[in-house]
Amino acid sequence: MSPPARTNLIRRGWSRLLTTGPKRSLDYARHQVSERYHETRIGIRTAGSMKTAAVTRRPGLCKPYAPIPYRSFFAVMREVEIRPLEDVFLDYGAGRGRAMILAARLPFRRVLGVEIEPGLVETARENIRRVSHRLCCRDVEVVTADAAEFGCPDDATVLHFFDPFAGVILEQVIEQVRVSLRRAPRRLTILFADPNHFAPLAASSGWLVKQGEVPYPFVRGMELIRESYFIYEAQSSPDKDQGINPSG
Ligand SMILES: C[S@@+](CC[C@H](N)C(=O)[O-])C[C@H]1O[C@@H](n2cnc3c(N)ncnc32)[C@H](O)[C@@H]1O
Repeated sequence: MSPPARTNLIRRGWSRLLTTGPKRSLDYARHQVSERYHETRIGIRTAGSMKTAAVTRRPGLCKPYAPIPYRSFFAVMREVEIRPLEDVFLDYGAGRGRAMILAARLPFRRVLGVEIEPGLVETARENIRRVSHRLCCRDVEVVTADAAEFGCPDDATVLHFFDPFAGVILEQVIEQVRVSLRRAPRRLTILFADPNHFAPLAASSGWLVKQGEVPYPFVRGMELIRESYFIYEAQSSPDKDQGINPSG
């Protein structure tokens, strides 16, 4: 780290200490160390957040890029029972590929990601290439598309949403999941961060059942806050009349 960058880091740390107090500053520092440790250990470049062009075009609907914290992904995946070489992981809003790559270190048959921002897809592909020789899953692919148009492949069984989109886009995607389940009944798990958007949809769906909740740390501005991942199981073949009415 260059001397000006180090001075800047010390200044920011000091200011955080003064505004949030020692306990929260320590939690924040621990979180940052953990993030750097896992990023280096795994050998990918996914850190940092980014406001994308999609956010500018569709504010409030498309969310910006921010990677899932490593420890949060490990914690939520401990709750998922993976059927080796059978389950297929799909990350909606794959960003730079962090969740996909962590999933591909597990015995999934296939790992898929869909991401709207071409620049992020390029970085995700580069990251996948960089560590492909160390992945357990050999079939890893990221597609550039708007999730609302991408649909839900009929073999996807673990769907991951780390706060990618909201409103009508989320409604369309969940409707596509329901249609896919009717076409191809199967066990399907949904992992959703930011339950504020998902929980009301799930509650009114009649075919999504909450199984659990996993707290995770998240950095907002200078603060480390606690959010929750919700884990849902889908009824394997939802009725025709259980569709979500898109709110337009
Ligand atoms: C919070 S990031 C999640 C990053 C990634 N899943 C991870 O765990 O590291 C949300 C991502 O969703 C993408 N996104 C937003 N709207 C989208 C849409 N309509 N279709 C596909 N991706 C979208 C954003 O570009 C961003 O990369």
